Amino acid sequence: MKNRIKELLDDVNQLAASNQEDLEALRIKYLSKKGLISELFTDFKNVANEEKREVGQLLNELKNAAQSKINDLKDSFNQSDKNEQHSDLTRTADPVLLGSRHPLSLVKHQIIDIFSRIGFTIAEGPEIEDDWHVFGALNFPPEHPARDMQDTFFIEQNPDIVLRTHTSSVQTRVMTTQKPPIRMIFPGRVYRNEAISYRAHCFFHQVEGLYIDKDVSFADLKQALMYFAKEMFGEHTQIRLRPSYFPFTEPSAEMDISCNICGGEGCPFCKYTGWVEILGCGMVDPAVLENCGIDSKIYSGYAFGMGVERITNLKYQVKDLRMFSENDIRFLKQFESAH
Ligand code: DAH
Repeated sequence: MKNRIKELLDDVNQLAASNQEDLEALRIKYLSKKGLISELFTDFKNVANEEKREVGQLLNELKNAAQSKINDLKDSFNQSDKNEQHSDLTRTADPVLLGSRHPLSLVKHQIIDIFSRIGFTIAEGPEIEDDWHVFGALNFPPEHPARDMQDTFFIEQNPDIVLRTHTSSVQTRVMTTQKPPIRMIFPGRVYRNEAISYRAHCFFHQVEGLYIDKDVSFADLKQALMYFAKEMFGEHTQIRLRPSYFPFTEPSAEMDISCNICGGEGCPFCKYTGWVEILGCGMVDPAVLENCGIDSKIYSGYAFGMGVERITNLKYQVKDLRMFSENDIRFLKQFESAH
């Protein structure tokens, strides 16, 4: 009996099965009620009493060994099943998630697109600028309160270097390096020392426009801006120009469009006036042309500057400016279908 048990123990330790059916056959052969091990248990009653203890232990050992061997084989099959699933080349691929453009980029590109259709090309300039390009050349006299109009961030070590407060600084760069005719727009980020709230931020984006040629008139400016407003906000959009003041334009104006949220009827967004301001503009002051080396007796020009956040708010009704820089995926995902 002992020999028989040891023989079976050897066999059991070497068991192998190449599939589930083979494994089941082995289980039946060794562990079922009529299996080899059960048979031994039946024979156990014939074992001499003095040997019962030893043989009983061996028998239990054999049964446990068979049980754990069969379980191990079963586990290895389950495991290889899983592995097979992982490498199933016929499975369809998981859908690839596409990102979406940032709303400010969407609107900036739309503005660029609209102006490029009437011949404007693009230029960009540095965000860290010297005082002359941001203020001096644009008729902000030194120490004049007009400089305070724009809550400038100065670089402490060198007060001549500032974070540009407006993209008008790119006008200076272009006018000092290129000859008219100039018909360009300048998109970019600008900085102002403002407390951050739902309606103000220390940085935002502008698109500046500049057209300089012989005989450019205020009528040309108005025509270009009307075209822009209708392309951006729809054919029904109306514009109105209000006299204003900027050091670098004369005359200067601010442009309102009929509120595209209430259609001009009056709503909280337009403060019940039916109009919302979207940009500043004017005829380039002849002194600015001269500062930049352009003969103001031959050339005239118009300029305008708009805030991209403001236009985006009007298009998408984003009520809190901070949303634009928080990168909250739930906010950004809403622009997936826009392009
Ligand atoms: N630079 C002005 C600002 O940041 C906007 C502006 C007004 C730009 C009139 C212009 C302009 O080019 O002609 O508020």
